[in-house]
Amino acid sequence: MDPKVINRKDARGVPVSSCTPQSLDHYETALYRFQSYFGDPTEVLAEALKEDPEFVMGHVFNASAMLMMSERQYLPAIVDSIRAAEDLSHKANDRERLMTRAARQWMEGDWTGACVTWDRVLADHPTDALALQCGHLTDFYTGDSVNLRDRVGRVIGRWNKDMPGYSYVLGMQAFGFEECNHFERAEETARAALAIEPRDGWSVHAAVHVMEMQNRYQEGQRFLREREDDWAPDNGFAFHNWWHLALFHMEEGDFAGALALYDQQILPEPSDVSLQLVDASALLWRLTLQGVDTASRWKTLADLWSDKTATENGYYAFNDLHAIMALVGAGRIDEAREVRAAVKVAATINPTLTRAMSEQVGLPACDGFIAFAEGRYEDAVDALLPIRSIANRFGGSNAQRDVLTQTLLSSAIRAGNAGLAANLVGERTVHKPFSPLTKRFAKQQGGIVATERAA
Ligand SMILES: [Fe+2]
Repeated sequence: MDPKVINRKDARGVPVSSCTPQSLDHYETALYRFQSYFGDPTEVLAEALKEDPEFVMGHVFNASAMLMMSERQYLPAIVDSIRAAEDLSHKANDRERLMTRAARQWMEGDWTGACVTWDRVLADHPTDALALQCGHLTDFYTGDSVNLRDRVGRVIGRWNKDMPGYSYVLGMQAFGFEECNHFERAEETARAALAIEPRDGWSVHAAVHVMEMQNRYQEGQRFLREREDDWAPDNGFAFHNWWHLALFHMEEGDFAGALALYDQQILPEPSDVSLQLVDASALLWRLTLQGVDTASRWKTLADLWSDKTATENGYYAFNDLHAIMALVGAGRIDEAREVRAAVKVAATINPTLTRAMSEQVGLPACDGFIAFAEGRYEDAVDALLPIRSIANRFGGSNAQRDVLTQTLLSSAIRAGNAGLAANLVGERTVHKPFSPLTKRFAKQQGGIVATERAA
């Protein structure tokens, strides 16, 4: 090892090799930003690398943070960062070499392999906050609810409340509990995290997911509004918590309120961040299913997606579907078909996991939404019905994937498929019995039953 390089330890006892103590300070700041979504970690990493170009974790963290955006556009910069880290491999410690390998695996499309490698890091360094969060976010991107819960569960016993960032670990665990339908434990854990760090937007989010799944839409609105000063201002994740607030408004039947949040908070100005555009598409789509006039907004949103599709098409099927929603929403079916064609290619040539995501869920979902937009509602049913129980394989949360069920239900109603529509309304009534949105679907479904009886 280079004599200048010292193996230091971060604030959680994880070894980080660096030439200067300042590198480690920058690493800690970047980690806080990554965990809290307050500020851009890559900015502070750039500073660290300016001062210490041989700071291995600076390069690895930089690559990892960009990978977690789930966009192809960052790949050239990611490749540069990974190569820089690999060139410094002789100066790196074992943990850093594994972290570099995980980043390369993710970059090459082996997302499962990356998760395994992060687990190896965590076996030696259970308090490695970067490895844990990268694994957690990838579990989200791959819809792996068991690991959303258990990757954190494997190590949380090695953490304690005095370690910096402990609340964020609890927040991840809370979200994992929620995605596995352990709602009580999820809420209890999220609230424990918030008692430590009220400004933890991921823990706010975990609690809000519980309220979404338990149909507590009025309480959810109050919960978010009362804590707004903690999770909203200057937070890079706020758009998603605003999206959840809009869902609560929709559940209550307040479509104007949901639309106002779209305009003022979810997409108040043009953005090129896929994660944000995904939420924008998903909300407009749900509103459109309810007959709300969203036409002008679809055009703006379709333009934003259209600027990205040449680069992003076929990279991540979950994003592709949301691009298609915007394009068909704006009446640009031909462009939507181009995205669909790219998903078809991805279903053939992508590396293992992203190929399966595209093939098994992405492609039928794209077909279903295009069919719906073209008024071929039976075709939409045929495409969407078989993927409902495996839709987690293309990522996102249970709440996000509800857009598939809502579209299937609307398709069944519009196709006059009374039996399926009744069953889907029945299912929804079990989960959300008092929701005005459920009653609205029930009324639409009742309409086709009445029409059948009259015929
Ligand atoms: Fe969410």
